[in-house]
Amino acid sequence: MTQDTITDRLSEAYNPANFRALGHQLIDLLADHLKKAQDPENQQLINYREPEEELKFWQNDFTKAGQEGASLTFFEDILEHSIHLHHPHYIGHQVSVPAPVNALAGMVSDILSNGTGVYEMGMASNALERVVTDFTAQQIGYTTTASGFITSGGTLANLTALLAARAAKAPQQVWTKGHEEKLAIMVSEEAHYCVDRAARILGMGSEGIIKIPVDEQFKIRTELLEGYYQEAIAEGRIPIALIGCAGSTATGSYDNLNTLADFCEQHQLWFHVDGAHGGAVAFSEKYKYLAAGMDRADTIVLDYHKMLMTPALNTALLFKEGHRSYDTFIQRAQYLWETEQSPEWYHSGKRTFECTKLMLSIKVYATLRCHGPGIFSDNVNRLYDQARSFAQILSEAPDFELAVQPEANILNFRYTGIPREEWDIKNGQIRQRLVELGSFYIVQTVINNERWLRATVMNPFTDGQHFQKLLAIIRTI
Ligand SMILES: Cc1ncc(COP(=O)(O)O)c(C=O)c1O
Repeated sequence: MTQDTITDRLSEAYNPANFRALGHQLIDLLADHLKKAQDPENQQLINYREPEEELKFWQNDFTKAGQEGASLTFFEDILEHSIHLHHPHYIGHQVSVPAPVNALAGMVSDILSNGTGVYEMGMASNALERVVTDFTAQQIGYTTTASGFITSGGTLANLTALLAARAAKAPQQVWTKGHEEKLAIMVSEEAHYCVDRAARILGMGSEGIIKIPVDEQFKIRTELLEGYYQEAIAEGRIPIALIGCAGSTATGSYDNLNTLADFCEQHQLWFHVDGAHGGAVAFSEKYKYLAAGMDRADTIVLDYHKMLMTPALNTALLFKEGHRSYDTFIQRAQYLWETEQSPEWYHSGKRTFECTKLMLSIKVYATLRCHGPGIFSDNVNRLYDQARSFAQILSEAPDFELAVQPEANILNFRYTGIPREEWDIKNGQIRQRLVELGSFYIVQTVINNERWLRATVMNPFTDGQHFQKLLAIIRTI
């Protein structure tokens, strides 16, 4: 039987008055949360629960579905059961501490849901994307031939960049004819695992990933490039691209991008820079020297959701020659656009993996629009400055060791005030205990087969006294 009146439940779900009432309460709740989170004396960073316990809580909560109407309690519980990135003791993963204006932009985006594959479904959003990526390209030092777009994360952006590299450098038109040659990429052994994954997705297999060893600062040993390249050629492989890190995931090290660019020019390779983390120095006059040569890359990946105050996922993929970005996917989609390859920036789906995507640009734009174009520079400078002061504190502490002087805001260190044979196991236990205590959040990693504690300074409110306090707690543990 068909129903000719809308159900009460549906009417209720779309009722503007309900939305207004709950929305006002929610903003108050979030503002209070922010205030508390920024006060480490009175707020836990995480109230850690074991996974099964957490699951039980939400299974129980779900039994109340539909019984309480629009409920603030649910949002309060979510906050209580989540890690608080705005807490100054959050120095864990490379996930940004979102500027609160993003939450407001998120509301606008989620009401509009202007998924932007095709222009009319995201007029403002596509134009904002153009403004934001043009601004980013300009900061990098690209000329006006450059162009880019925003996509869902560094992993997808790196894959898209390598697809573009393959379209440009494979001996034949891969999109229509496939390829039989053994294509390969050259990449630092310190590159993020998503680059390896992308190459495998592209059908290159293990043999097609030529990993170049790094030096003691975890940068590509450029003097080895020629040897690895010639060896690949002799074995019948065809290197198409070289990928530089700006900076690397484990240690934040910046490869010598100018030397890599020279090598690519010499061998006509596609030069791709994975600047997902450290490409953000493009916004900083003080630290952009670290990524010198980045403007010579054919493509650059830069995550707004790492050092640029934007919630995940939100990534720019920029092309030095913008027209190249239309060669990656050559597809007709009659219901969206008429021609395949024409360079219409306003149909963002022509250049991205996504068909429908979130209104990603609104968040980056809102931060710049509300706080000014210099805000990204302020944040990068602050995070890098603070990482250097933490490194100084660690260097002066007799019972701690720093793996390498940080170039970015990533520090690997370990507690050494115990017998040498216990370093690995005890540092692992320290990190686990810190999570359980819930007053600090750091992570751990393995470098040269040894365990290190790893901190990434992501919160501009984290300062020297917080670092000192962390070391004191570690000593107590
Ligand atoms: C250098 C680098 N590239 C790529 C990625 C993957 O990016 P995403 O998490 O945005 O997919 C990361 C993540 O940490 C990274 O550090």
